[in-house]
Amino acid sequence: MTGLSQWVKACAIDEVKEGKLFGFHTDDKKILLANQKGKIFATDLICTHAEADLSTGFLSDEGVRCPLHLSVFNLQDGIPQNPPAEAPLKTYNVKIEQDEIYVEV
Ligand code: FES
Repeated sequence: MTGLSQWVKACAIDEVKEGKLFGFHTDDKKILLANQKGKIFATDLICTHAEADLSTGFLSDEGVRCPLHLSVFNLQDGIPQNPPAEAPLKTYNVKIEQDEIYVEV
């Protein structure tokens, strides 16, 4: 389905308060939402290293830190800042309409 994208409703804005992580599933994707200083980012939910669930990780100014081996991923481009992860997370566009968060998948 390359080239085709659609906006899916993730959750209410209230579910992802500042400094929080939130994971959700679409039909075929697992997505992480992160509220970093009031801005919402969306990336893949599953760490590219060994499949940890990043919603159980830690959010900081640098990005989201994997709970398993502690690689930190930048939220804008998904690029890991430190080993062991090497592959970037996919990132997704986000929009907010009527207090609901939508992600372009
Ligand atoms: S599973 Fe995330 S760094 Fe290893």
